[in-house]
Amino acid sequence: MAVPSYVGALKGKDFLNTQDFSQKQVKQILDAADDLKKKFRAGKPTTYLPGRTLFMIFYNRSLRTRNSFEAGIYQLGGHAHFLSPQDLYTPTLPEDMVPYATEAISDVSRVLSRYGNAIAIRIYGDAAKWTIGRGHRVIEEFARWGDVPVLNMEDDLYHPFQALADIQAAREVQPKLQGKKFVVSYAYSGGLKPLAVPQSEVLITTQFGMDVVLAHPKGFELEDGVIKAAKENANRYGGSFKISYDMKEAFEGADFVYPKAWSPKQFVPPYSKTVDKDGASAYQAKFKDWITTDELLDVTNKAYYMHCGPADRGQEVTDEVLDSYKRSLYFEEAENRLHAQKAIMAMVMP
Ligand code: CP
Repeated sequence: MAVPSYVGALKGKDFLNTQDFSQKQVKQILDAADDLKKKFRAGKPTTYLPGRTLFMIFYNRSLRTRNSFEAGIYQLGGHAHFLSPQDLYTPTLPEDMVPYATEAISDVSRVLSRYGNAIAIRIYGDAAKWTIGRGHRVIEEFARWGDVPVLNMEDDLYHPFQALADIQAAREVQPKLQGKKFVVSYAYSGGLKPLAVPQSEVLITTQFGMDVVLAHPKGFELEDGVIKAAKENANRYGGSFKISYDMKEAFEGADFVYPKAWSPKQFVPPYSKTVDKDGASAYQAKFKDWITTDELLDVTNKAYYMHCGPADRGQEVTDEVLDSYKRSLYFEEAENRLHAQKAIMAMVMP
C-alpha cells in the first residue's frame, strides 16, 4: 500500500480552529479528505496510522463526532479510547484547582501524552458552566501541556471538524466556491446551544472567498473577535461578509443556506452574572418563525440546504425539507465528518 504524501504533512500540530491554518493548508486537508473518501467508497485500505492511539474525552453526548472519530482511527489502522469525564479524575483548570482533590489538566494531558498519539476533546454547555469561552480554554490548556496533537471535537467557540466536513460537501457540489452566496442563519430551537457551529461556518466560508451573509434576530450576535476575523477573511480572500436581521431577505438568491440554532449570549456569563436558561428560552421563543420551509427555500437560487445535525425537526426545519428537499447536503455533511477527521489524523498523528 503506497502512503500518500499528505500523511504526516502537519505532524504534531493541534487542530483547535480552522483560522489557525492558511487557506492553502485547509485546501490540502480537503484534498486529503477527498482522497480518503474515494478510497473508503472503493473499499481500499488506508491503514496509514498502524498502532496509533487516539484518546477521546467527551463531556457532551454525540452521534456523529464520536462514531466518525472512532471508525476513522480504526480505518487508519489505529485505535480509540473513549473517556467519559466520570471515568477520569475531573481534569481541572488552574484557577479551579482544589488542593488534594482534583487532577490538573496539565497533568492529565501529560499522562495521556505518554500513552498515545493524540487527545481529542468535546466540551461546551453545562460542562463549561455555560460560560462562553471556558470550554475553549479547557482545550487550549490540554494543548498547552500535551506533547501530542490536541483536537477540538467542538467547544463553546468553534467546531472546526464540522466546518471542514461542510466545506468539503459544498466544494463537491460547487467546485468554484468563490463568489457564491452562503447564508449562515439563526433557526429557532427551544434549548440552549453553543456558538460553535455558526462561528466556525462564517470563518471557513469567508476563508474560501464566498459572499457570506450572517442572519439572526437582534440579541443573537456572535463574538466580536469572530466577526472581525470573518471581515478580515473576506477582504483577504476576495469575498464579502454582511449581517442581516431578516431570514427571508438573507435567503434571497442564496446558493447555500445553513440555518442552525444558537443561543442569545446576554443570558450566560460573561455577559450575565448567572446562567439564565429560562430567560434564554423565553427570548428564543419570540423567534419561532425562524424555521426553514419549502416556501422559504423557494426564494433562494436553488440553494443547497446545510445543517451540522442533529437538526431539530419542527423547530429549526420542517420534516418536508429534511426528508424530501432535493438539494439537501445533510447526510453528505454527516458522512464527510469521517473523511475530514481521517485527513487531519493522518496528517498530524504519524
Ligand atoms: N454535528 C455534530 O457534531 O454532531 P454530534 O453532536 O452528533 O456529534
